[in-house]
Amino acid sequence: MESSAVADCLRDKCILITGSTGYLGKLLVEKILRVQPVVKKLYLLVRAPDATSAEQRVLSEVIGKDPFNLLREKYGITGFHNFIKEKVVPLAGDIVDGYLGLHNSRVHALSEEIDVIINVAETTNFFERFVP
Ligand SMILES: NC(=O)c1ccc[n+]([C@@H]2O[C@H](COP(=O)([O-])OP(=O)(O)OC[C@H]3O[C@@H](n4cnc5c(N)ncnc54)[C@H](OP(=O)(O)O)[C@@H]3O)[C@@H](O)[C@H]2O)c1
Repeated sequence: MESSAVADCLRDKCILITGSTGYLGKLLVEKILRVQPVVKKLYLLVRAPDATSAEQRVLSEVIGKDPFNLLREKYGITGFHNFIKEKVVPLAGDIVDGYLGLHNSRVHALSEEIDVIINVAETTNFFERFVP
């Protein structure tokens, strides 16, 4: 599939992404926002105790990182801030919990809205115990 066709598939879509604070996840978020700026929304599920902490994590560990410099240059500081505010929605959750650790009402609303789920969350610590 041509990369432009992939970008076309994401036009006006709501996408739930896990693992965005990780190495691959933040590159994925940046790439989607760069090649398909008319994506509707990116919901970023991050491990955090509450919504405020989730937002802080997304701003400092994802959006604030170097891969986003191209977008910062393209839109300018204020334009970039507004673009991110319009497109990116942090969610506090955990993929090992039922319903990703999200509140029931949130799950219902998201299930109506989300078109695509991309799971990049993973334990990459080889010293963790395997629990079957
Ligand atoms: N890096 C590569 O070059 C590469 C190449 C090919 C394939 N992959 C695969 O891509 C995946 C991600 O790799 P990566 O290098 O990006 O790993 P990484 O930097 O360790 O990131 C892992 C991500 O998963 C999140 N996560 C872990 N457990 C979670 C949970 N229970 N709930 C929600 N989020 C959770 C982490 O969140 P926290 O910040 O909260 O820890 C982090 O955002 C892995 O499956 C890896 O095998 C990676």
